[in-house]
Amino acid sequence: MQRISYKFSHLIVRPHCKMAAFSTVAQQVKLDILSKTHALDNAAKRKEISRTFISDTVTVPTKEMYEYATLSTLGDDVYFEPSTKALEDHIAQLTGKEAGLFMSSGTASNQIALRTHLLQPPYSVLVDHRAHISKYEAGGAAFHSGAATTALIPANGHHLTLDEVKRNMILGTDTHFAPTEVVALENTLNGTIFPQDEIIAISDYVHSEGKKMHLDGARLWHVAAETETSMKELCDPFDSVSLCFSKGLGAPVGSCLVGSAAFIAKARWFRKLFGGGMRQTGILAASAAYALTYNFPQLPRVHALARRLEAALEEIGVEITSKAETCMIFYDPSSIGVTYDEIADRATDLPEPLILGGSRLVVHIQTTESAVDDFLSVVRQLAEEKKAAGFVKPPPTANGGNGYKDIYVRRAPKTSA
Ligand SMILES: Cc1ncc(COP(=O)(O)O)c(C=O)c1O
Repeated sequence: MQRISYKFSHLIVRPHCKMAAFSTVAQQVKLDILSKTHALDNAAKRKEISRTFISDTVTVPTKEMYEYATLSTLGDDVYFEPSTKALEDHIAQLTGKEAGLFMSSGTASNQIALRTHLLQPPYSVLVDHRAHISKYEAGGAAFHSGAATTALIPANGHHLTLDEVKRNMILGTDTHFAPTEVVALENTLNGTIFPQDEIIAISDYVHSEGKKMHLDGARLWHVAAETETSMKELCDPFDSVSLCFSKGLGAPVGSCLVGSAAFIAKARWFRKLFGGGMRQTGILAASAAYALTYNFPQLPRVHALARRLEAALEEIGVEITSKAETCMIFYDPSSIGVTYDEIADRATDLPEPLILGGSRLVVHIQTTESAVDDFLSVVRQLAEEKKAAGFVKPPPTANGGNGYKDIYVRRAPKTSA
């Protein structure tokens, strides 16, 4: 007979009691998350998303995407899941790199890329001051990699230039400084397209100094679609590139990091170390594959809708502070005497509300033409009211400041809920 120590004897239960106890536990554990109204709720959510301008991360899987995804393989990705491996290989081939690695998010992909590039401190990462890596990843470069960040304000207000990178790269042996080890660019950045010639010039210089180039290409798909340039050509100047499936492409989850085989092998190690090694990811990889096939071709339509929105805003007299080069517009309604809050309040009060943040308008594959029309009606109506109340657009003033104005006014979206 098996001997059980006194310490564990309280765990022994008789068979009939065990059944009763188990059904109690099962009762406590079980959960039904589908409400009686879930179909209606989801239809309402899809409607809300079609009228949400705050981001393209709100895009949701369609029934067709999920149907395709359920046919994916059932492996465990810590041991190379087949559908996920097929996605990684495809993205590597598409971008002209040796290998790819599926990640849970763009933040994980960027941060693991930096961690993999950065070997022996002290070191720093050079970025545009608006870059997601520097501004919106919770200080990850410092936390995960112990890296300092050199954040530059581009003088042209649009993109960093070779000259700016050259002047601000930290090189040499002066022990006061943390040498620049990686230059991390972003394309698109706030929806704008980084000129490829400038990227190549920066890359040639950075590589000539023996340093690395990383690209946050969360929305590089938009550059490829808008400029009709291959992903390989766009990625060639970089040692590593992070691409997202869950933003403009409309997949539910996931990003892919690409680079050399050795780089990705090490990044796979860091992914596990960071707790980002996922298991049955086939369903996510297949959603991404569906997005590449059926949603990428929709981007030209999305960009055209953004341009239509921009043109109509200009016609109303609204100042456009960053043009619709792809799917985003930044605007300033003070030129018609209106505030972001006034617009958001009116938009919330519509029979079918619009969800707005501050100065950024993002158009995505699920944005409807009628959402754009309704937004324009709100702005047009407010402009007319202000004009009737005597608002006159002030003449432009000479720029007496340092020339820099942050165009990104972030406000929590106002919802009717
Ligand atoms: C340019 C850019 N890079 C990276 C990320 C991070 O992606 P995630 O939210 O999947 O972590 C975002 C998120 O919106 C982004 O806009």
